[in-house]
Amino acid sequence: MTPWTLHRLSPALGAEVHGIDLRHPLSDEDLALLRGLLLEHQVLFFRDQDITPAQHRDLAARFGPLQTHPAYPTVPGLPEVTILHNDRDNPSRIEAWHTDMTFRPRPPLGALLHAQLMPPVGGDTLWSSMSAAFEGLSDRLQRLLLDLHAEHSFAYGFKESLAAPGGHERLKDALAANPPVHHPAVRTHPESQRRGLFVNSTFTTRLLGLKERESRALLNLLFEHVTAPEYVCRFRWTPKALAFWDNRITQHVPINDYWPAERKMHRVVIDGDTPR
Ligand SMILES: [Fe+2]
Repeated sequence: MTPWTLHRLSPALGAEVHGIDLRHPLSDEDLALLRGLLLEHQVLFFRDQDITPAQHRDLAARFGPLQTHPAYPTVPGLPEVTILHNDRDNPSRIEAWHTDMTFRPRPPLGALLHAQLMPPVGGDTLWSSMSAAFEGLSDRLQRLLLDLHAEHSFAYGFKESLAAPGGHERLKDALAANPPVHHPAVRTHPESQRRGLFVNSTFTTRLLGLKERESRALLNLLFEHVTAPEYVCRFRWTPKALAFWDNRITQHVPINDYWPAERKMHRVVIDGDTPR
């Protein structure tokens, strides 16, 4: 039993955790409890967490080594805390469902997103459970997918940025540092051992070993399948809310419906392992 109250968002995934103050360093016992809740619910939410960027970083660091993002603005003195700021002049370009950074050989374990400035309405985020989506497929299709690998590509995921004026020049180092990678189409979560679909519409280009038309048709079916309402939860942000998702077994998508209002988040990303 946890000392906290849980409010689940959907049967597939998502739970709000009430009664915890994240300003205080986590005890080993609380860390173990939170890890367990993350494995069970795949994305956790915390309301009204008045934490500083340093406390945000320290919280994330309890779960593993942190990443830095040289290409994104960061909080001064805290290279691990990325600033995501969208307004009239700088709309979000992320429109599609994805698992973060699957173009890397070791995609992130997860991320902690802390709301700084929210529109009065809009700017919600959706998450989808890849274990629920996998379990929702027929046995025959599951068996086929268990045998397949897929290619994931930075260049594909950032094709619009690359096509923009000066985009290729700006991203050429990132492009060279991130050649396409192959991952299993279904990965086994390293801690829960649950299987989850591991292809996403933003970064996955093809299923290896299939004909191009077969690959395209099957990927399109899966990309649509993961958005089915029964696999999804929707989080309505409030100022100082914090979301912590397990990137190994979920996808997410922001809803860009708040223009011309402003939305500002801080994000810390935790290193992951090689999908198997
Ligand atoms: Fe993302």
